[in-house]
Amino acid sequence: MKKVKIAGREVFPIGLGTLKMGDKPDTFDQEVKAIRAGLDNGVQLIDTAEMYGSGNAETLVGHAIEPYERENLFLVSKVLPNNASKKQIPISLDNSLKRLNTDYLDLYLLHWKGSVPIEETIEAMEQAKMQGEIKSWGVSNFDVNDMTRLLKLPNGQHCATNQVRYNLGYRGIDFDLVPLMKENSMPLMAYAPVDRGASDLTKQQVLLDISKKHNADVFQILLAWSIRNGQTIAIPQSSNPDHVINNVKAANIKLTEEDLAEIDSVYPEPTTSEPLALW
Ligand SMILES: NC(=O)c1ccc[n+]([C@@H]2O[C@H](COP(=O)([O-])OP(=O)(O)OC[C@H]3O[C@@H](n4cnc5c(N)ncnc54)[C@H](OP(=O)(O)O)[C@@H]3O)[C@@H](O)[C@H]2O)c1
Repeated sequence: MKKVKIAGREVFPIGLGTLKMGDKPDTFDQEVKAIRAGLDNGVQLIDTAEMYGSGNAETLVGHAIEPYERENLFLVSKVLPNNASKKQIPISLDNSLKRLNTDYLDLYLLHWKGSVPIEETIEAMEQAKMQGEIKSWGVSNFDVNDMTRLLKLPNGQHCATNQVRYNLGYRGIDFDLVPLMKENSMPLMAYAPVDRGASDLTKQQVLLDISKKHNADVFQILLAWSIRNGQTIAIPQSSNPDHVINNVKAANIKLTEEDLAEIDSVYPEPTTSEPLALW
């Protein structure tokens, strides 16, 4: 298992998503257990956002991480586009830090591009970095044109990642965005890496055969595929501690050239540019 270099840190290649978590009091304890199951088994990165449950997911994470050494964790949160101005970012960030019960984020992402000029968002992110409230900043849901433009802006090269939807069913970015990020030594964060859990991918024969060969399940093969280039951190979400432990183990599965060729024969690499898959 190879860690992924992100924002100057070497980080375990499977993180934890938190979409739809922290909302219901009756599942709160189970969700805390799920997050801790990940952290107890090697996970460092937790992905959350001010949007998720209007802050409830951040509150859940803040509670789940209490027993852990802060410096071993890699906490990521996201600011909504409407809040991504010089005036609003400090307010949103302060609220996220309070909910997460921490005094800094390892990475703060613009959730998707909105009407605030990106130049202004970069300035606010750089300011937060200088004040020590964030260690690094990045973006999410930026397509290849957005990224190309961003990289040319003042301090645009400081962007630490782009978090986008990426799994076998949505691999359009392999054509252009992944190569662009690679050229710029920028790791990818893959969201919805198990395609939301119930897709046809889990019934696909080629994946079932490869799973059997690796003594794994299809979810693990989907995750092993998503992180295969050593420059991607996948952030599957699960409220089930057993699923989380399973997902973490995917970091140790090395797909062979033969496995990858078989997968490509059913899910071919894109040969033209495709619109970015959202949500
Ligand atoms: N930047 C953005 O715009 C954006 C958009 C979407 C998501 N995200 C981030 O990416 C994270 C992941 O994406 P996602 O939550 O949409 O989709 P996902 O991680 O692909 O799928 C989550 C679903 O998969 C199930 N699952 C996970 N592991 C499983 C396993 N081993 N066996 C069986 N079922 C399993 C979960 O159910 P169980 O709880 O039953 O395991 C859950 O219903 C989010 O939580 C969020 O942090 C970011």
